[in-house]
Amino acid sequence: MTRHPEVAAVTAWVRDATMAPSMHNAQPWRFRYASAVGTLDLRMDTARYMPETDPTTRGMHISCGAALFNLRVAAAHAGWAADVRLLPDPADAELLATAVFAESDGLGATAGLYPAITRRRSSRHPFTDEAIPDAVLDRLQGAARSEGAGMAVLSEWQVDAVLDVVKEAEEDESLSPAVRREIARWTGGGAEVSEGIPDYAFGPARHDGRAPVRDFAMGRPVPGRESAVFEQSPRLVVLGTSDDRPQDWLLAGQALERLLLQATLDGLSTSLNSQAIERAELRWLLRDPVSPSLTAFPQMLLRLGYGPPVPPTPRRAVSDVLEIEQPSQPG
Ligand SMILES: Cc1cc2nc3c(=O)[nH]c(=O)nc-3n(C[C@H](O)[C@H](O)[C@H](O)COP(=O)(O)O)c2cc1C
Repeated sequence: MTRHPEVAAVTAWVRDATMAPSMHNAQPWRFRYASAVGTLDLRMDTARYMPETDPTTRGMHISCGAALFNLRVAAAHAGWAADVRLLPDPADAELLATAVFAESDGLGATAGLYPAITRRRSSRHPFTDEAIPDAVLDRLQGAARSEGAGMAVLSEWQVDAVLDVVKEAEEDESLSPAVRREIARWTGGGAEVSEGIPDYAFGPARHDGRAPVRDFAMGRPVPGRESAVFEQSPRLVVLGTSDDRPQDWLLAGQALERLLLQATLDGLSTSLNSQAIERAELRWLLRDPVSPSLTAFPQMLLRLGYGPPVPPTPRRAVSDVLEIEQPSQPG
């Protein structure tokens, strides 16, 4: 008889899955484990929909894709290979993936990323001027590619162009009361809140420099917040896919998390920016003109570098996001 993973094991993997980054730390995922048949479903939590900053649910798919990747890593680390089907039911768009598991003996490259799951953070702090070795960037490109996505390292002149685009997106955002209201819903709580971006994760206010760091304070004074000089020449990369359907967004999320975990193991700090990508008219300007097929559809702008350690952000309890379907008792 085929053995299925124990409920306790799946619960631990789901806890690791929830360590993934998500837009505004909304954690838009719900898991359901049918323990009798060993099937784990991942659904999009539409109660966390953001009509202003994520109208197409692209960000929700990317966030759930990142959580799915962590789940694959955690299962692999425990000796189980996940067989994942993306969007298995065309009539149910909110069912993003189903996974079944088979015992495997190999602790492969995916399992080796496990220690980075709880160490990875988004950093909104300045990074040093230290160059990132080419070998490290090559590894990150390989990480994106192995999940079916592309990563383009932007040249200095491309960085200038992208920073202009992000600035335009920032200005649009600051002028839209609806966007500001939506972001305010997900920011400003403390460590005691289990979702959203707490004040302490905003990083310092930008006193100078050109790093594309979204300022979640949106002009609100935050007690004790310092200001700092950010990089003049930030190291930016774009993660992209060759198409732009929900399955590509899920793939981008998995590639994003693979890249972030690898970067974490390589000692890099990472920071995400989707401001320009959220605006359809600006998103296309992030395409890499040198190798456009790699990033035909830009899915995320990342800033990489060496920076100070930052504390983790909160997560919802695993019991809030995982439902267990127990086998019915005979008689
Ligand atoms: C689709 C998506 C879009 C994001 N956009 C931004 C962004 O524009 N600016 C930013 O600072 N962080 C962005 N983030 C990072 C989240 O804010 C971050 O993952 C979340 O607050 C949890 O914090 P952590 O990554 O440190 O665990 C994004 C993450 C995802 C998955």
